[in-house]
Amino acid sequence: MKIAIVGASGMVGRTFLSILEEKGFSHRTLTLFASSRSAGISVKYQNHDLIIRELNEKSFDEGFDIALFSAGGSTSLKYAPIAESKGCIVIDNSSAFRMDPKVPLIVPEVNANEIKNMTGKIIANPNCSTIQSVLILNALKELNIKRVAYTTYQAVSGSGYQGIMDLERTLNNESPSYYPKPIAHNVIPLIDVLLENGYSKEEVKMMEETKKILNLPNLKVSATCVRVPVRNAHSVSIQCEFEKEFDIEYVKELLNAHPFVKVSEEIITPRDVSGHDIAMVTRLRRDLSVDYGLHCFVVADNIRKGAALNAIQILELLFERSN
Ligand SMILES: NC(=O)c1ccc[n+]([C@@H]2O[C@H](COP(=O)([O-])OP(=O)(O)OC[C@H]3O[C@@H](n4cnc5c(N)ncnc54)[C@H](OP(=O)(O)O)[C@@H]3O)[C@@H](O)[C@H]2O)c1
Repeated sequence: MKIAIVGASGMVGRTFLSILEEKGFSHRTLTLFASSRSAGISVKYQNHDLIIRELNEKSFDEGFDIALFSAGGSTSLKYAPIAESKGCIVIDNSSAFRMDPKVPLIVPEVNANEIKNMTGKIIANPNCSTIQSVLILNALKELNIKRVAYTTYQAVSGSGYQGIMDLERTLNNESPSYYPKPIAHNVIPLIDVLLENGYSKEEVKMMEETKKILNLPNLKVSATCVRVPVRNAHSVSIQCEFEKEFDIEYVKELLNAHPFVKVSEEIITPRDVSGHDIAMVTRLRRDLSVDYGLHCFVVADNIRKGAALNAIQILELLFERSN
């Protein structure tokens, strides 16, 4: 098995490597790519030095079986079709192909079966805030979800190294060079670009991806996405309305039965989940403003289950299918 990692020097790329190492993938299976900026950099993996190479049009001539892409949308748009044309399956972390009807958008615990229907070789990994949110909604699907409203509190690591650097910079009272306003001691109610309908692109990603992953095309979903000065781990406040009466203890049972979800009676914060794989649900309670509503606050590591771990679980699904 030959695996290419595109964007290996990035925040998600480095986490791919640490999870693959935890899972015991041999260094012999891996080839690392990034841009010319990181070409030549050596990365320690299982006591071996792996050298990052510059990605180019010929990179996929080497016959890779699978490529994990996490190098931004424009890199994916250019290179994923090249990889695909050489017979390589691409698991893409960017938003480039997520809403393409031919491309499965996979959270393994929710819709692994969709992989069976793929016609091409590209599989999309969802948006980080979407992954932790659909884990919750999927667990509650049997209660007939009518409407969902998200408010996110997204960590700066969600913007990769540039986000972390902008937090450091503005904590030092320097001007921001990535976010539109200083992120230190602040919150910014805009992630990605603002669209004509008044929503941001990040909000539309969450709304559309939720419907696609849950296979509920008519679900009513709204979102407000906010960047906060938290280093790592995203929080999502989910307000969810059901068609009929429900029992709050049964909701907890459904959530706790779901892999990668745990309900806590404690107050859980991003610091509690950073570096872990579980989406923690805290502040679970009835929404007293509607007949059958629920409020909860979901906290998860956006780089692990929100990106790298989810992609590697997809890779493992592909292995299982080929064996
Ligand atoms: N961070 C998250 O929570 C998260 C969650 C879900 C999805 N994602 C997605 O994952 C991708 C990477 O995010 P990140 O947070 O890891 O960003 P990052 O830390 O900024 O890393 C970006 C990576 O992309 C590489 N790259 C950039 N342009 C390239 C090019 N032209 N050719 C080859 N490699 C190139 C960079 O290489 P150099 O070092 O050479 O510049 C670096 O390895 C993005 O598409 C992002 O939307 C991120």
